[in-house]
Amino acid sequence: MKSKITRNEFIDRGSKLMMAGILAPFISEGSELFLADRKIKIGLIGCGSVSGVYLPHLSKSPYVELVSVCDIIPERAKKRASEFKVPNYYSHIDQLLAGAPFDLMINLTNMQEHGRLNKQALIARKHVWSEKPMANTYQEGKELLDFATKQGVRIWGAPAVVNSPQFAFMSKAIQDGKLGKVSAAHAHYGHLGPTWSPFFYERGGGSLPDLGVYNIATLTGLLGPAKSVMAMTSIVTPERIVDDKGKIKVVAEDNAMVLMEHANGIISHVQCGFNYFDPYGHEGEGQEKPTISIWGTKGNMNLIGYDWAPFGVDMATAENEAIVRYVKDAGTYVWEQGASVIAESLVNSTEPLIAAEHALHVLEIIEAARASQATGNRIALKSRFKYPVV
Ligand SMILES: NC(=O)c1ccc[n+]([C@@H]2O[C@H](COP(=O)([O-])OP(=O)(O)OC[C@H]3O[C@@H](n4cnc5c(N)ncnc54)[C@H](O)[C@@H]3O)[C@@H](O)[C@H]2O)c1
Repeated sequence: MKSKITRNEFIDRGSKLMMAGILAPFISEGSELFLADRKIKIGLIGCGSVSGVYLPHLSKSPYVELVSVCDIIPERAKKRASEFKVPNYYSHIDQLLAGAPFDLMINLTNMQEHGRLNKQALIARKHVWSEKPMANTYQEGKELLDFATKQGVRIWGAPAVVNSPQFAFMSKAIQDGKLGKVSAAHAHYGHLGPTWSPFFYERGGGSLPDLGVYNIATLTGLLGPAKSVMAMTSIVTPERIVDDKGKIKVVAEDNAMVLMEHANGIISHVQCGFNYFDPYGHEGEGQEKPTISIWGTKGNMNLIGYDWAPFGVDMATAENEAIVRYVKDAGTYVWEQGASVIAESLVNSTEPLIAAEHALHVLEIIEAARASQATGNRIALKSRFKYPVV
């Protein structure tokens, strides 16, 4: 992210952007003062588990003003409003959009609700940061992105893995040829599955959009867009007990193996599931093993920790065969930073590393993996994104 600009540069850039119509949705009772003191006004929808991690990060951001929170379970919205001193709370998106004005909607609701709610926000000309997935299908996501452009606003989707310094190190090592010719990569992520909400196991949920999404974003970010996908998915635990609903039938995959074909003959593999014993649990506390490996003709690289919580990259090369651990510090990177980073980029009018096209590509891969399982076929992909990311 570009460092802060001066007040004059900021006002100048703001005037230019206004003239270009880019900041049009921001101009309400606008004035020079309004621009100079710019913070992005936030309306957050979905006050469940992940909001408890997002809100502390957003509260600390100098680029953010928390305006409203919303949840269909009104007590949850009320609780978050009081915990984080948010002046307004609502129990329906219609009230949120008609209520106190804001610029960016952060969508932290059930996965199945994302497409519909994101569309409503775009109709109201709000920018959108959406937890994964950005939409329920690739087609729906593509339509949302096109619609956002038409509305003069932006939409982005989680995850934020490309922001970590470990990702940047690995990407640069590959781009600089430190590994020689890269041919193969593997990534994995799993635990025993969330226990607090049924939507993870219902149609439109599953271990691919909840877990595999991180590894797919990392591997495509490092190796380039996938051209085709073959996969197997399954359900290993057909019934689960979850809070609120008791015993439920599992409909979405809880076990997945995905093979991706990238350019230049590179093949990568992602495995994810809700049936992995993992001594580090859902929080990943203390995880110190590699979860992402990349092999080349002149070097190998392993990401230590998860890509959403990394703390090192082990690399051995032909020039230096002993494994060395690089980038032991993630700096300011945390997985929950996505919406705060987007607010910062909107204020400074810089382009974030996170790209909606990348999130859509990941969504197309997830869909293709399911199509491959259903048909037994290799599925060709059409979407692309700007590569290399860094
Ligand atoms: N929990 C995590 O650690 C975590 C981490 C990263 C990403 N995520 C993602 O965040 C999203 C939410 O996950 P969660 O674990 O917080 O789930 P959750 O069930 O704890 O919270 C979801 C909340 O959204 C509310 N909601 C559902 N539909 C709504 C609607 N139409 N309008 C308003 N509110 C609505 C629910 O009442 C609930 O409070 C998912 O996309 C998930 O994949 C979760």
